[in-house]
Formats: sequence, structure tokens, C-alpha cells
Amino acid sequence: MTKQRSKLVVGNWKMHGRLAANAALLEGVAQGAQALPADVRVGVCVPFVYLAQAQALLGGSRVAWGSQDVSAHEQGAYTGEVAAGMVADFEAGFAIVGHSERRAYHGESPELVAVKTQRALAAGVTPIVCVGETLEERESGATEQVVGAQLDAVLAVLSEQEAAQIVVAYEPVWAIGTGRSATTQQAQQVHAFLRARLAAKGANVADVPLLYGGSVKPDNAAELFRQADIDGGLIGGASLKAQDFLAICAAATAGASVAG
Ligand code: 13P
Repeated sequence: MTKQRSKLVVGNWKMHGRLAANAALLEGVAQGAQALPADVRVGVCVPFVYLAQAQALLGGSRVAWGSQDVSAHEQGAYTGEVAAGMVADFEAGFAIVGHSERRAYHGESPELVAVKTQRALAAGVTPIVCVGETLEERESGATEQVVGAQLDAVLAVLSEQEAAQIVVAYEPVWAIGTGRSATTQQAQQVHAFLRARLAAKGANVADVPLLYGGSVKPDNAAELFRQADIDGGLIGGASLKAQDFLAICAAATAGASVAG
């Protein structure tokens, strides 16, 4: 029997948005979310500068908000950086850490991602820790080794109690923004592997939400979210349209999970 975990769908706007367009999107999502099944939690991770706008427009709604990164430093002379405590000032529920775009374009190491995870936790913001392999790594059969090492680097610096508070997102790099989602079998296989790795850290850690990300769209979301170890999604492009994002959220109801 599979334990029923509640579902979580989080939008990652990446570097998209402007004040006027954001207002329409945030209001549309907040309003549409009222009709979602009670077991689906929803969040949107916006560029730092729009956290105040998200707080103003989503406060009191069912939709949480968050950032797409936090600094590895608590405070200090780090020009351009934004601390987890600053994000927390705007009541952010989530902070994405270790997204593959940051690992690839900003040279973020597994150790740095681990420190960022600690910073978010210390500030009371739930870190969404992203892991994922490149196409080359998948084709050479290294997927589990790569995502396992990425997850282990984070788990190594956390207590069992802390680890139980994170969210993990599996995002195969080759599926991000390409329109080429992992198949449900490919995704479930990696999720089951990650679930076992989390369970090895402690009984409390086994049930952390495991999100899938990479070309999730309204037409493939339900099948992905039905898998035993897929607890929801981290949504890029499709989170920029209220209707598409809400359709994906609606597909995430836990009642649809298969036993595994
Ligand atoms: P897409 O949904 O646009 O493929 O992006 C996925 C992603 O990177 C979410 O963090």
C-alpha cells in the first residue's frame, strides 16, 4: 500500500515577468486555486524583486510564494546576493535551490547547494532542492549516480529532522524547456531511487515531497502525478499561463495516485 502524500505543484517563473503582467497572472492563479481539490498545495517562485508583489496579491489565498535561489551567506559584503532571511521577510514559503540552470550557468557545486539549503531552513523557508542529470549522463547510464550524489551532498549536512523539512525536485536537464518530458516510467524510476535514498536518511525523511520537473504540461501532468513516488511538479513555462498552471494543479489530486 502506498502512503497517500499530499500533492504540491510549484511554478518556477525563471526570469520572466513584469509588474503589470504579474498582477494578472497572480490574481488569476489565486482565484482559480480556490476551486482546486483540498489536498493540492500550490506555490509560485518569482524573481526576488517581485516577492513583495506576490505577497501583496497572494496573501490570504491558497497559493504560497517563494524565490528561485538564496545566498549561501547569511549577510555581509556580497554585492548582488539576496539572503534567505530577506526572502523570509516577505513571508516566502519556498526557495528553489540548486536548479540546473544555476548549477550550469553559475557554477553552483553540490556543496554550495547544500549550504543554501541550510540557509533556507534556518530562515524558516522550505528549500526545494533540485537534482537532475544531463542527456549525456543519462545515455552513459550515470543517472542514479549523478542524482544520488547531488542529493547526498545535501543530506550530508542536514540532521534527520532538517532533512524531513525539505522538498526535492527531480528535473532531468534534457527535459527542461525542451518540450521533451521524461516518460512516466523514467520519472517514476528515478523518483523511487530518490525515495529510497531519502528513506535511508531516516523514517521521517521518506515522505518528503518529490516533485518532477521538465516540460510538464496540462496534457501530461495527470499521468506523471499518478505515479507512486511523484508527489507533484515544478513547472517552468506552463506556470506563466494561469489557465495551464491551474490545469496542472488540478491534475495533482492525491486521489489519483496508484498503489505501488
Ligand atoms: P519547463 O517546465 O519549462 O520545462 O521548466 C522546468 C523547470 O526547470 C522548472 O524548474
